[in-house]
Amino acid sequence: MPELPHNVVDAASAALADEPEHDRVVVLARLRRHWPDLLSGLRAAYGEQAPVLAARVAGLAVEGFRARPADLRLLDLRRHVDPDWFQSPRMLGYACYADRFAGDLRAVGEKVPYLAELGVTYLHLLPLLQPRPRPNDGGYAVQDYRAVREDLGTIDDLAELTRTLRAQGISLTLDLVLNHVAAEHEWARRARAGEARYRRYFHVFPDRAQPDAFERSLPEVFPDFAPGSFSWDAELDGWVWTTFNTWQWDLNWHEPDVFCEFAELVCFLANTGVECLRLDAIAFLWKRLGTDCQNQPEVHALTSALRAVARIAAPALVFKAEAIVGPDQLVEYLGTGRHSGRVSDLAYHNSLMVHVWSSLAAGDARLLTSALRRFPDKPPTTAWATYLRCHDDIGWAVDDRDAEAVGWTGEGHRRFLSDWYSGEFPGSDAHGLVFQENPATGDRRISGSAASLAGLGTALDSGDDEAVDLAVRRLLLAHLLVLGFGGLPLLWMGDELALLNDRSWADDPFHADDNRWVHRPRMPWAVAERRHVEGTVEHRLWSGLRHAQQVRASLPAMHAAVPARLLDPVNPGVVAWERRGPDQVLVALHNTTREPQLWPREAVPLPDPLHDALSGTSPGLVLPPYACLWLVDPS
Ligand code: GLC
Repeated sequence: MPELPHNVVDAASAALADEPEHDRVVVLARLRRHWPDLLSGLRAAYGEQAPVLAARVAGLAVEGFRARPADLRLLDLRRHVDPDWFQSPRMLGYACYADRFAGDLRAVGEKVPYLAELGVTYLHLLPLLQPRPRPNDGGYAVQDYRAVREDLGTIDDLAELTRTLRAQGISLTLDLVLNHVAAEHEWARRARAGEARYRRYFHVFPDRAQPDAFERSLPEVFPDFAPGSFSWDAELDGWVWTTFNTWQWDLNWHEPDVFCEFAELVCFLANTGVECLRLDAIAFLWKRLGTDCQNQPEVHALTSALRAVARIAAPALVFKAEAIVGPDQLVEYLGTGRHSGRVSDLAYHNSLMVHVWSSLAAGDARLLTSALRRFPDKPPTTAWATYLRCHDDIGWAVDDRDAEAVGWTGEGHRRFLSDWYSGEFPGSDAHGLVFQENPATGDRRISGSAASLAGLGTALDSGDDEAVDLAVRRLLLAHLLVLGFGGLPLLWMGDELALLNDRSWADDPFHADDNRWVHRPRMPWAVAERRHVEGTVEHRLWSGLRHAQQVRASLPAMHAAVPARLLDPVNPGVVAWERRGPDQVLVALHNTTREPQLWPREAVPLPDPLHDALSGTSPGLVLPPYACLWLVDPS
């Protein structure tokens, strides 16, 4: 383990001279503890420059601490005592756009009772830092990371909101968009103005030679509205790397100054009281010719170095990786081997989401079982961010080998899922929209709200109560699969009320070419009132989710450190897993079909009498359509 160099200790001690003694001691201890991660992360990316760079970054972290308000320093100490806070079964996440949920940041504060009533302990507000003027990809084209979007409020309002939320036990998550900035960001403007330092912040090429060479192995993210990965900029007099839209310029993380900028931004955002940063599009950070420029080892090295900065300056902060990648690559975002648990703390479990939708469409649990079984173990100190829907589309990331293992083809099943969820498949009741169809790859991603994808809209239109009941059950089962898998479950705004697709999504001309807005409605607060009216679908979803979360919070086996181990399918329609924790064993059974299913008693490795924590009863051997049991050891 490399020791903290004397010059770094001296510089930190001098910078901390005015701080209370206990803070000096604590920060120096953190520096010593996290220096090896900082140094090794920077070395993997920047080679010989690492020691000098690490000393500079350590200085930035100490400055970050110095700017940290007293209440957040206290929170840091609390989290030291309770490091698994985000793994607790009482955690329930909620994600929304501040404006579409409430109006502005103050109004979000006024809606805290609604969130608290649902049991929410974690709130992800979609991008709210100053974006470029629209179009701006829902705020994912940031123009100023140190200012809040004007119509939403100010940095002070943000800090105030974090305090309001924290008082109710809710932790705020914000996006840190670190792959790209808006073409209007100061760095991009200065690059265009010819400042060499800022030109280095971006990947700029004088002609098509390099872009063409890279594009030979680069997939397109938005083939429909932003084909290719490079854009010509006349003022730059060059081709600039733009993975997403032409006005989202990829940053050049090969440049150490870019790392330092983000080290400062991490501290700045943490000091507003934000407790989790969602590392947006993190997979794309490092570019390497001849590859798809995703998941490069340097991405993990840089993340662990940034995490070391946070651990020194603001250890209450956790990182959530947004990497929509395959299982083997995904676990790297939480750290493997020597880096286990030292990269991000949370990572989106995209495969679980895809396979929940897949098993419901097929009425068959075998693919989900074999795919999730193949998943490598995650580090026990980390958690999956589990979800059924989010603000993005669903890409049918079904692995060919997994499909073949159950006698299907990957290509055929992916086509089936697109057809099913766009409503084109005979017998489908789903109402999704095809997003970014790519004829070259056959890829047809899907947009749509959870309720519409689960067939609730079709059922309501038919006026058939039984069909509505079945769709509600199917939707609740999908949520229960997410809640029970383990991790931090995230609800997408409106799913607690079974909101259908927003029919007016395309009326806004800035949204009309991006049908992801079909599932990003404005919160209909009058509809939300129906959550208290028995017999409504809003009430069924709201009370079903609330109840499930209350039960979940009481079950030690639901802690995120306890892995879900898939059991042999007891029946092709039933997903079964076991969570074997130190204090409790839990077996969950889920009927993914519209028919009752039998499950053999011997398939459940629990002693008699069986107890279902969800219903509080002793269950029979028939699972009603779309039913779920959380069986727990009676002892
Ligand atoms: C992430 C966001 C997505 C956005 C993209 C580019 O994937 O979830 O909404 O379009 O990053 O920032």
